[in-house]
Amino acid sequence: MVSRSNKIILIEGPNLNLIKKRKQVYQSPKELKDIIKLISEFVELEYYQSNIEGEIINKLQEVISDDKVIGVIINPAAYSHYSLAISDSLEMIKKLKVEVHLTNIFNRESHRQNLITAKNVNSVISGMGNYGYYLAAQYILENS
Ligand code: DQA
Repeated sequence: MVSRSNKIILIEGPNLNLIKKRKQVYQSPKELKDIIKLISEFVELEYYQSNIEGEIINKLQEVISDDKVIGVIINPAAYSHYSLAISDSLEMIKKLKVEVHLTNIFNRESHRQNLITAKNVNSVISGMGNYGYYLAAQYILENS
């Protein structure tokens, strides 16, 4: 049963809107729309994607005071590696936060292994494709 009093927000950062045009490493066996449908069967899910750092920050700031939101799933994409501003916004959110990377960033270029945003989340999932979002939602629901 979908809980209407609990909401999870899933935020994706730059270039994740054009995932089908990106390299093979980003392709998931499960499509994002199917994962969103699956999560929406057990909790209310808001999906937000932006290519703009400030817009992601505005969305995160909304979460701070939204009592319905029990947790945040975020894939900041390239911002993960250098956005101190997104990291600072995450720090202010006192709810469960999971950072998800579609790819296994630990077997990729060394610059992808520096995760600034991950310092301010509870956990990180990397390398499971879109399925990582599903696991993150389950974790938030069962632990908040
Ligand atoms: C990514 C990994 C980042 O290094 C990259 O810039 C992305 C996607 C991932 O989901 O694996 O855009 O966050």
